[in-house]
Amino acid sequence: MRAHIITYGCQMNEYDTHLVASELASLGVQMVGSVEEADLVLVNTCAVRGKPVEKVKSLLGQLRKEKARRGILIGMMGCLAQLEEGQEIAKKFDVDILLGPGALTNIAEALKGHERFWDLAFHEEINERIVLPPPGALSAHVAIIRGCNHRCTYCVVPSTRGGVEVSRPPEIILKEVELLRDRGVVEVTLLGQNVNSYGRDNPDYPSFAELLRRVGEVGIPRVRFLTSHPVNFTEDIVKAIAETPAITRYIHLPVQSGSDRVLRRMAREYRRADYLKRIETIRKYLPDVVLSTDIIVGFPGETEADFEETLSLYDEVGFDHAFMFIYSARPGTPAYKHFEDLPREVKVERLKRLIEKQKEWSLKKNRAWVGREVEVLIRGRAKETGFAEGHDRGNHPVLVAADRVAGPGLYRVRVTEASPHLLFGEVVETLFRPEPLAAAG
Ligand code: SAH
Ligand code: SF4
Ligand code: F3S
Repeated sequence: MRAHIITYGCQMNEYDTHLVASELASLGVQMVGSVEEADLVLVNTCAVRGKPVEKVKSLLGQLRKEKARRGILIGMMGCLAQLEEGQEIAKKFDVDILLGPGALTNIAEALKGHERFWDLAFHEEINERIVLPPPGALSAHVAIIRGCNHRCTYCVVPSTRGGVEVSRPPEIILKEVELLRDRGVVEVTLLGQNVNSYGRDNPDYPSFAELLRRVGEVGIPRVRFLTSHPVNFTEDIVKAIAETPAITRYIHLPVQSGSDRVLRRMAREYRRADYLKRIETIRKYLPDVVLSTDIIVGFPGETEADFEETLSLYDEVGFDHAFMFIYSARPGTPAYKHFEDLPREVKVERLKRLIEKQKEWSLKKNRAWVGREVEVLIRGRAKETGFAEGHDRGNHPVLVAADRVAGPGLYRVRVTEASPHLLFGEVVETLFRPEPLAAAG
């Protein structure tokens, strides 16, 4: 059997795709790079906003045709699969296998020839599987906690990935990180909906701060983490970052809104002043920190004055970058049930103004790096444009002049120019080049 997986959504989904790929490999299934070559096509889905759901539907439409033509098996997995909305879609598009995000380890069972195999349970063993990226990868994700204890009123994630946080055993996390190190991985990103909660569900587990210190000592040069919730981004975590050289000084701390009224309606458990206090603590220990955030514009009931508070918070913090989303009403969420959506024009107009603000700040922040040296992880070969792409320890995308880039690796780069989206630079020194693939095993 030959399988192809198509992935939507966040880094946790990418990680889960690797998990399923290695389960399939252990069953002797060959992974292929396109739908045309595959007899089994799995779609790892996302349901966080309306757009990814639309994408999944149009893909499933194509797959259904392929199935009618030559009888492939179609599998739908991940977040959308867990929701009623997704199950309706699965029926409509004649999906054979449906696996929720907690049921992925059951792919073996699903392939045993059942007519239709649906599993929406959470199997603890998912946290015990060792997941490795394809050989040769320099960057890898490591899940540390699954599920979410929060109940933000706009968000489907507690319904898709589970409303109770389950931490992965620390010895398994550390084993995975060590294996990654041995394979030549130079950057790991610890993943969770809410990484700061790590260990709170099990008295035998270390805290997130302690886990960071341990992972930071394994010998991987770059350790990062996603995502943090402001409410429990405590001082001990900031200290652990400051005292562990491998951990990058990059923090993604979603604020969602600058207005207390909106934060309350979102059921975010902090207020504007609490958020600003967190930023103050972070900057006290990490003066050079690179900060990014998530912002939702046009949440139901958001007034012009509320939105202006988001803009003014942006100025107060001076984010390096922001991921900005138009509010998308998601079936099943409290906000969908109880609040009325704002007109689309209002939301689009606010998004445009926020993007202007973001560009202004990103340009200002990026320009401050010109003339300085950064460590860039270059993932691929140089393009015809004359540049190779990478990112630095602050997660800035960096285009590096190709003449001194020998291929993927870590380079010391002098920043020569900045735009709102990118840094440009030249190699000063090659820091690390991977062994040829055969040796990496
Ligand atoms: N657990 C993470 C984020 C999960 S989703 C956290 O709490 O930070 C990633 C981002 O998508 C969120 O931070 C939010 O900004 C955005 N998002 C979630 N639901 C949304 C919705 N219904 N409409 C628009 N954006 C949404
Ligand atoms: Fe969704 Fe809120 Fe949980 Fe993040 S913290 S996953 S936004 S419910
Ligand atoms: Fe999407 Fe699920 Fe991630 S809804 S953003 S794939 S947690």
